[in-house]
Amino acid sequence: MPANVVVIGSLNMDLVTRAPRLPTGGETLIGHSFTTVSGGKGANQAVAAARLGAQVAMVGCVGSDDYGVQLRDALLAEQIDCQAVSVVEGSSGVALIVVDDNSQNAIVIVAGANAAMTPAVIDRFDAMLQDADVVICQLEIPDATVGHALKRARALGKTVILNPAPASRPLPADWFAAIDYLIPNESEAAALSGLPVDSLQTAEKAASHLLAMGASKVIVTLGAEGSLFANGKGFEHFPAPKVKAVDTTAAGDTFVGGFAAALAAGSSEAEAIRYGQIAAALSVTRAGAQPSIPCLSDVQGFKPA
Ligand code: RIB
Repeated sequence: MPANVVVIGSLNMDLVTRAPRLPTGGETLIGHSFTTVSGGKGANQAVAAARLGAQVAMVGCVGSDDYGVQLRDALLAEQIDCQAVSVVEGSSGVALIVVDDNSQNAIVIVAGANAAMTPAVIDRFDAMLQDADVVICQLEIPDATVGHALKRARALGKTVILNPAPASRPLPADWFAAIDYLIPNESEAAALSGLPVDSLQTAEKAASHLLAMGASKVIVTLGAEGSLFANGKGFEHFPAPKVKAVDTTAAGDTFVGGFAAALAAGSSEAEAIRYGQIAAALSVTRAGAQPSIPCLSDVQGFKPA
């Protein structure tokens, strides 16, 4: 069956240390544990969309190392179409992650094979985009490729989602017309807008700024505070379900994947946001990136506290 959600983005092996707190510059800390877990924002979003009900295809690159095999196998185990996950000579992408006792994390990524995602790769798998209903991109592959993918998906009339993560600067102005849903978290909304974001009110200001820059719809994810939807007509705040957080890694990815799966299944925007939020809330109650992502029955069986 053709994929109705196509994810274009990164695959990383996550090297995860749990520690009492995040280290400061020059400091050595004694950690509690170490694990390797399949991750990468693109792959996490693909897994989330697949577990949450979509037919998914992934477009990405892994290295010729053991991590590459494991990253691809992890997607195949979710019935994700990996015909467009190419193996390139060299190392796979990796993410060095520290999670502290308050479930906060700090992440450093090294692109590895993700840097081999050129615009030509998007052209090679154009048939996949043609079959899709929803196309999702993030920012862990080269900007030129993201821009090319967004514009091609727009030209094909697809629903286009950009999760601008990680973000350290404003987006190219000519991307906005190609995006239906721009989904930053607080720090990404701040980086894209140049405005501080630390509350619902400041998130509204940043979202207004992004709308003025050309975004058509913005969803700012606010962690435990829920999410803020903004379009040209106004704002709507969606409070988050209350849960006890263990590890917030991939919560944003789970939201994006769940939101996309729900849209592809015909849900309204509001339903899709609530669905993504329940999935993300469940993900923070479990450790790791892909292992933490819930499936359809988990979300359907969710009872708010
Ligand atoms: O969003 C979480 C992801 O960010 C991790 O899986 C890590 O690979 C980094 O890309």
